[in-house]
Amino acid sequence: MCGIVGYTGNAPAVPVLLEGLEHLEYRGYDSAGVAVVSRDKGLQIQKCKGRLRTLREKLDSLPPLEGTVGLGHTRWATHGEPNDVNSHPHVSQNGRVAIVHNGIIENYAEIKQFLLHKGVAFRSDTDSEVVAQLLEYCFNDHSDPLDAVYAVLDRLEGAYALVILCADRPDMLIAARKDAPLLLGYGDGESFIASDATAIIAHTRDVAYMEDGEVAVLTRAGIQVFDQYRRPVEKEHHTIEWDVSAAEKGGYPHFMFKEIMEQPEALRQTISPRLKGGELCFDELPLTDEKLRSFDRIYLVACGSSYHVGMVGKYNLERFLRLPVEVCLASEFRYSAPLVDERSLVIVISQSGETLDSMAALREAKGLGGYILAIVNVVGSSIAREADAVLYTWAGPEIAVATTKAYSTQLALLTMFGLWMAKRLGRADGADYAAVTAELELLPGKLEKVLADTGIYQYLGSQYFSRDCVFFIGRNLDYALGLEGSLKLKEISYLHSESYAAGELKHGTISLIEPGTLVVALATYGALIDKAVSNIVEVRSRGAEVVALTTESLAGKLEGIATYTIAIPDTHPALQPNLGVAPLQLFAYYIALQRGCDIDKPKNLAKSVTVE
Ligand code: G6P
Repeated sequence: MCGIVGYTGNAPAVPVLLEGLEHLEYRGYDSAGVAVVSRDKGLQIQKCKGRLRTLREKLDSLPPLEGTVGLGHTRWATHGEPNDVNSHPHVSQNGRVAIVHNGIIENYAEIKQFLLHKGVAFRSDTDSEVVAQLLEYCFNDHSDPLDAVYAVLDRLEGAYALVILCADRPDMLIAARKDAPLLLGYGDGESFIASDATAIIAHTRDVAYMEDGEVAVLTRAGIQVFDQYRRPVEKEHHTIEWDVSAAEKGGYPHFMFKEIMEQPEALRQTISPRLKGGELCFDELPLTDEKLRSFDRIYLVACGSSYHVGMVGKYNLERFLRLPVEVCLASEFRYSAPLVDERSLVIVISQSGETLDSMAALREAKGLGGYILAIVNVVGSSIAREADAVLYTWAGPEIAVATTKAYSTQLALLTMFGLWMAKRLGRADGADYAAVTAELELLPGKLEKVLADTGIYQYLGSQYFSRDCVFFIGRNLDYALGLEGSLKLKEISYLHSESYAAGELKHGTISLIEPGTLVVALATYGALIDKAVSNIVEVRSRGAEVVALTTESLAGKLEGIATYTIAIPDTHPALQPNLGVAPLQLFAYYIALQRGCDIDKPKNLAKSVTVE
């Protein structure tokens, strides 16, 4: 996700900002920019697409930006492709305010429309620019910048970490937060603000975390914080203990662990803009009812974990839509004479949007007349550009090679899309629709609960790290989930593992079960719990040790049967894999940790596979 740093003090701001942005590079970004304000020169901005190095070169070739108050940003595109104009900071039409923003302004289109009618000219395609323009518009009625900021915040929907510079108040920065992190740094004669501590830790370890609804005013003399009703807030100070290298992973030991923990937030980013008042809405899709009605089959095409998303998706989509859904490995699709035609909806799923096999499959399907919908994380990527329509997961940058939060958000998005399409076609069961949408609202919170205690996974890691082989078994959605659990383990721990549909065991695999064999039994799918129990008994009676994953309401069925049972919160069955995957990720993580593996960069693997 994007990075923010802000400074006000006595030193030139630009070097402080660039150094702060450098420490935020680990988050991944596609463009960068800085703005400073001074009494003599007002607002001065430089920004560009590309790495920080490009921004530095640009700054070096120009007269220096003078000022001791400023802000900087690294952007990871969501609305609007990565380019110079869409980079932050964004400046209002008459240059009175500059802002940087992390998050998504959900009602930006409506605000933009309102301002366009007032004659405001926009420069970028971003949602963020509306904040700068609306602020300047509000300055007409409010001479106090803080009044204008509160008036703007009243109209914003969505998530934001905002930092604002005003040309006529060159002594201060204003910041506001809702559902996107910001922390304040207290220095001696200087104040800082950042999206995470990495950016400012070289200058101060004395910090306070902003809460949702709070607004902060930073000057070199200090920081004042107000709540949403503009009452002063006394902030609790914290001292940052860790060093810069750990901080680059936000204090986490590995990017993979950090990304596992980020999943609730990532899910919020995926779900909340598309779920309003209990209704699913995909305003971003140009699909008419007529077009939706024309599809007689769906293909889900992807590689690796994205393919496993498709495996779960098949069960859910067929149930919701009563249409045949075929899941295809992208590397096979192209060479299998696919039966795609104009009545086919081909959903290509890819975190990076650059996987060559998926790209080739997309072109093949397009050539055959299929309608291509891409589910992608990286904005502006090749697959996103070549598809007929795109749904972005908005999970933020994923750095660890083994995907976690991208998988989760793809899964949620595909389920949501399937249900939305069923509703549009008049095929959704009303009660089911209401139950899934209600559970979607609760999903990030429930996932937080799953992730709150990692003790059991740490313990299991220490118990089982030296095994040679692990079997994952499950039925239906649990089978599809097991495929991902097994892949995670293989990828990062180099431990041999296999995943089977539990009903298939008796057709061969059961001969591999011996005393002491480790079996991870997935038993979260309520409709088939008795069959799952039978399969556990089957392997237990051949001496297997069983780690069972189930739900709180089903846990009683497994009592005294498995060696260890992990119970996760219940949700709608269509969403249960979204909660079930986190324990499997943590299990793989702790096994790999015990085995001393290079978790973030497993041998022989790449994050984005652009070869066939
Ligand atoms: C690589 C990654 C996997 C990923 C797969 C597909 O193998 O290591 O984590 O699932 O590519 O990548 P995509 O970006 O298309 O989802």
